Amino acid sequence: MNLYDRIPNNVNLSEDKRLQRALEKWLPNFLAWWHDMGPEGFQEKEVWLRTAVDVGSEGWAHFDYVKMPDYRWGIFLEPAQPDAKVGFGDNYGQPAYQEVPGEFRNALRRIIVTQGDTEPASVEQQRQLGHTCPSLYDLRNLFQVNVEEGRHLWAMVYLLHGYFGRDGRDEADALLERRSGNPDKPRILEAFNQPCDDWLNFFAFTMFTDRDGKYQLSALAESGFEPLARTCKFMLTEEAHHMFVGDTGLSRVVKRTAQLMKQNPNEDVRALGGIPLDIIQKYINFWFSYSLDLFGGEISSNSADFFAAGLKGRFKEQDQYTDHVAAEGSFTLLVVEDGKLVPREVPLRNALNEILRGEYVKDCEKGLARWNKALADEGISERLFLPNVRFHRHVGEYAGHYFDLEGKLITKEEFEAAKSEWLPTMEDREYVGSLMKPVTEVGRIANWIAPPATGIKGKPFEFEYVRL
Ligand SMILES: [Fe+2]
Ligand SMILES: [Fe+2]
Repeated sequence: MNLYDRIPNNVNLSEDKRLQRALEKWLPNFLAWWHDMGPEGFQEKEVWLRTAVDVGSEGWAHFDYVKMPDYRWGIFLEPAQPDAKVGFGDNYGQPAYQEVPGEFRNALRRIIVTQGDTEPASVEQQRQLGHTCPSLYDLRNLFQVNVEEGRHLWAMVYLLHGYFGRDGRDEADALLERRSGNPDKPRILEAFNQPCDDWLNFFAFTMFTDRDGKYQLSALAESGFEPLARTCKFMLTEEAHHMFVGDTGLSRVVKRTAQLMKQNPNEDVRALGGIPLDIIQKYINFWFSYSLDLFGGEISSNSADFFAAGLKGRFKEQDQYTDHVAAEGSFTLLVVEDGKLVPREVPLRNALNEILRGEYVKDCEKGLARWNKALADEGISERLFLPNVRFHRHVGEYAGHYFDLEGKLITKEEFEAAKSEWLPTMEDREYVGSLMKPVTEVGRIANWIAPPATGIKGKPFEFEYVRL
């Protein structure tokens, strides 16, 4: 098998013998990890998957049946821009960095490792879900997300091997050694250690947690370190499908719940095997709050340093800002002081995590609007909502304090007393789990979710997306 078949790429890998050797050494370890920690029980099945074969805007993806271990994980970067420039910060307008700037080497490696760690983590979190799929269409989407997270891991490992030498190689190995939820060797970020063991979790995860990925990748896609920018730009095209799976998945659950509410005089969907709106709301509260943590502290000197260095920008830095230096200006946020919420003004560059988080929240709200439209269309008056950004936080200014869903500061006792109304209880999880029975006949779907409006890539819903 030639090199391109083993490691598809558009980075001229055959001309870089050192990198080629490093990646060929890593490849069997990756496959061993995929075998141990990838989707359980479906490795030998043929799945109708899209594979990245090139980065061109047309036809970059190829659809066909493939067994997941034979998926062509590859290294694809957006084409280089001739005379690319640093797009923001203190070095604004200077030539983009083709190598890692020395003084930011450790910090940049940390960013890449942290992003890279999320990719295999989510595959591990989702590895049992295939056994309880609501339809073949959903099963295929799960596996599509899984193999692309595997490819995203390749993308980050390429950067580590290609630009960081020995410590990069060690970090690439460690990415295959940590395990989601394992107390002895956990994944780096907490959202990626939470169990994702039912399909409502899966849809909320891909809606909220993969969407954090979109914003992190977008900020890095503006990076003055050009190999990172080009890598992240291409990952974003794949990420869009993951968020589609989550957004439409939740929309379909909400729609089905609304239909069942109308069928029962007491609007009791449990009696009809549906997922009640209050449980859906709790899952939203849980995954939204954990995903907010992924943006880091509200006030952050790291974010200021990274922006100054031209390494991590804002969302759509080039399209939606005119001042790319942002050396002046301030941002006001609420912090807890002496048991009260008070405004504090911080330099703009120190508030960039919070500004990115704000963009993310706006995007999430659009999802909520779509789900509420599904409720309205079915004639149901109840509405779903996002909790306040201060609710249930474990990172940043609000960690260690307690807030209600509206963001009002409350005591620990008040929080504990209301917790079972705000976050999924063991009983809620068990109830959702009890509905998770596999439906694997072509064209059929579980009772707790509505079918999708259309299939994938022109295929109908009634298509054999996975050959079991
Ligand atoms: Fe990813
Ligand atoms: Fe993703």
